[in-house]
Formats: sequence, C-alpha cells, structure tokens
Amino acid sequence: MMGHHILLCGAEAERIHSSLRGKAPEETDFSVVTHSYDLPGTDLVPKPILVVASADLADDPIFRSWRSRRLSDVPVVWITPDYLDSGGVLDSRSALVLPEDELSALPYLVNLAVRRDNPMIARRPVDRTRLPGIQKPNEIIGESEGIRRVLASARKVLNVRSSVLILGESGTGKELVASMIHLEGKRRDGPFIKVNCAAIPESLLESELFGIEKNTATLVDKRIGKFERADGGTIFLDEIGDMSLLTQAKVLRTLQEREIERVGGTHPIPADVRVIAATNKDLSREIREGRFRSDLYYRLNVINISIPPLRERREDIPILVEHFITRYCRANGLERKKVAEDVLDILMRHEWPGNIRELENTVERAVVIGEGPYLTPGDLPGTIQGSAGGGRTTVDEVPSFQKRVSEFERGVLIDALNRCSWVQARAARKLGMSERSMWHLFKKYRLDLVSRGTGKRGRRSNRKTSADSH
Ligand SMILES: Nc1ncnc2c1ncn2[C@@H]1O[C@H](COP(=O)(O)OP(=O)(O)OP(=O)(O)O)[C@@H](O)[C@H]1O
Ligand SMILES: [Mg+2]
Repeated sequence: MMGHHILLCGAEAERIHSSLRGKAPEETDFSVVTHSYDLPGTDLVPKPILVVASADLADDPIFRSWRSRRLSDVPVVWITPDYLDSGGVLDSRSALVLPEDELSALPYLVNLAVRRDNPMIARRPVDRTRLPGIQKPNEIIGESEGIRRVLASARKVLNVRSSVLILGESGTGKELVASMIHLEGKRRDGPFIKVNCAAIPESLLESELFGIEKNTATLVDKRIGKFERADGGTIFLDEIGDMSLLTQAKVLRTLQEREIERVGGTHPIPADVRVIAATNKDLSREIREGRFRSDLYYRLNVINISIPPLRERREDIPILVEHFITRYCRANGLERKKVAEDVLDILMRHEWPGNIRELENTVERAVVIGEGPYLTPGDLPGTIQGSAGGGRTTVDEVPSFQKRVSEFERGVLIDALNRCSWVQARAARKLGMSERSMWHLFKKYRLDLVSRGTGKRGRRSNRKTSADSH
C-alpha cells in the first residue's frame, strides 16, 4: 500500500480516529492501537509519517522504547486532557502538544504531515509558538544583575538531585527556569512532569500525585501518579503554596523516603525523582499562619532561586521587547517591526504587576493590532499608556473572534458562579461540565480576581468547594 500511514495510539485512539474520518487526504491510512503492548512489530506496518498519541504514553516504557527504535524522526502529536499541565510530554525531538479540546486542529496537522513540504511538521523542529497551548521555546532573556544571579544559581543545580524552590511573583518566569533546569541538567532525557497544585481540586490532588492502587472490591482502577511518572526525571510542583497541609505531609514523606505510596496501596514504590517547586506566595508568612509546614519548607528550600519582579530589573525591558517582537512577528507572518522611542519610554515606566507575562502579552497584542512598520503608543492598551499615552485608544479595533468567544465564555462562567454562590462544583454541574474543566477555566480567566459581592475571595473558598463535592 502506497498511502501515508498514520499511527493513532492510546486509550482515546478510536475516538480520535473517528474524529478524523473524512477529514484526512484520501491516500492516508491509519492504524489504531489502544494499548502500548499492542504496538506492531518492526516490519508489520509501514513506518508512519505521523504519530498521534495520548500524553500518558510519553512515559510508558514500551512506547518509549518503541518510539526510539522506530520513530526517532517521526513527529508526534501528543493529546493532553489540558495544556495547563502538559509540560511533561514535550521533548527536544519533533513533538507538539494538542489539548483535547483543540482536537479539531488535528485534521489540519494530518494534512500538513501528508504534504511533507510544510515546515511545521516536515523534519524541521516544530515552531511551538504557532499553535495555541503549545509550550514556547525555552530561552531566558535578560542581562540585569537580577537575572544573571538567577541563571548562575540555576546552573549550579543542573546536575544535583537536591530540591529547588523557585520564588517569584506571577509571570516572572518560574516555570521557564524550572524547565531550563530540567532540560539542561543530567535528567534531561527523563520526563519533566508538571503539576499545578492550584489547578487541581484538593480532593484529586493526592491521587494525581501518588496514583491509586487497583481495588477489586470497590472497582477502583489502578492509576499511575505523577511522582511515579516522573521517575528518572523531574517533577515540577507549581504553586506549591496552594497545597493542603495533608498533601504536604505526603510530599514530605516522599522526599524523605525517596519512595511513594499509592492511594490505597500497601507497599511503597521507590521513585528517583528530582523535585522543583515554585510559588508566588510568601511561604514564611504561610508558615507563620499555619498553612504551610515548616519541615517541608526546609526540605524544599535546599536551593532557593528568587526571581526578581520586572520592575526591579527594568533594564531587561528593551531586550525582552525585542525578543517578543521577533517571536510574534514571525508567528504571525509579519515583517519584523520596530519600536518607536516613545513606546519604549512608556514600557520602561510601567509597573508591570503581571511581570514578563504581561509584557509579552502587551507586545503580542501590539504586534497584531498595530499597522505599519513601527509599534506606536496607540498600539498599547489604555491601562499601560496611562498618562503618558494621552489616552489615544484604538477605537476601530475589532476584537478577534477568539477574543469575543472568550469574553462570552467568561461571562457565562461568572453568571453561573454567581448563581451558585461561587461554589465551583455546583456551577460546573449547572453548566454540565466536569469539575476539572471548571477549575481550568476558573484559572484561565483569573476568576479568583473577580469581585463577587459576598466578600469571599480566591482560593480559600475554592478549597471548600472541592470538599463539598465529595
Ligand atoms: N527571562 C525571560 N525571558 C524570556 N521569556 C520569559 C522570561 N521570563 C518569563 N518569560 C515568559 O513569560 C511568560 C511567563 O513565564 P512563566 O510561566 O515561567 O512565569 P511564572 O512565574 O511561572 O508565572 P505564574 O506564577 O503566573 O505561573 C512565559 O511565556 C515565559 O516564556
Ligand atoms: Mg507558572
């Protein structure tokens, strides 16, 4: 058979196959493999031009070895339930991550793979900035004393196993530094598993981290936890300041004993895992107020990397701006734009409460809405132009489809939450979505910042939510 062969792999393979029906070029054929142990032997099937696999196969030993024997130059599209924690499956070979709810992009990727001429999938590395939800290249930009100190400490810990605690305000680059430590360190060939402790409901976090032992009496299926999946690699515990005291105790034990215990398990399993934790909370205050265990803090804090906020290293702003202009002009197929002097002045003066993420979004937006070869003050949002910009706004800017959809979605969520006294589990049921999706959307739209009239704010009340639902 002369067709282009595509391998679909993982528990969801059937479903993915049917989602592609009629949408792939005619000369394409598929093989569908639901378990890694069913992977075909060497000569039984033609070599695929593309593999679509569920992300949990990334650290499945059978799949891993099969992939390195047969597929080292074949692009893999990993399907993840959510990209908030998809960090684990990316590697330096040509792979990209597609969140489940963006499965509709898959036929497009298949078509690209068939037309090998396309730069996105043909042999060259994937430009991950081109698709939504895909991790951006790891490059830590900056020349300030502050960022140099960060890089120097990060380099020192590349090849040791000690835990690292990364502190810094939101958007300062904690995750970027964590992934750099993994990708440049001795464990780079092992998995990098990211867990966002604030995005996973309390009631699920323990099994998410440690897995579940099969229990025939209660029909509970075995599940491998993230610690176990990170064996030989790194686990990144993001927003660890949001972890409950109970889970903290389990993490502490894991760090001390170097072994894990599945929920409902009877014997510990050894795990060789390097822990990198991050938070934007003031942990000493959390400790004083009884929300964080000091013994865990000392365990994690063996090496401490504090990333200064952008307003304390403004000298990095011009080079970051250049970096993001290059990235977003390229991603949008635009000529490389330049920055007018007055724009840079405004950017240098802004306080950047959202740090680099805010700067990055600002530049991306300016690149996209601005016309002509220069970014002008009018391309900046009013809040950033402040007094300096003289209030020139872009009246005729038409919000993109995506933006309008997002605004609508956000409105629906706030409305449902208001009706359910901000009990997320209830609002999720009302909207017919899983509690987990609700958590992700809550996070995505920063609904913790929405004033809700009841005087309650943020995560404390969320915690209660997840307990409610059990
Ligand atoms: N020094 C840097 N050079 C280039 N890009 C950076 C730098 N620092 C941060 N970024 C970019 O800024 C964005 C935010 O960074 P990151 O997600 O690592 O921050 P964070 O500290 O984990 O934020 P949060 O606390 O909100 O999760 C990312 O897109 C990242 O690539
Ligand atoms: Mg982060």
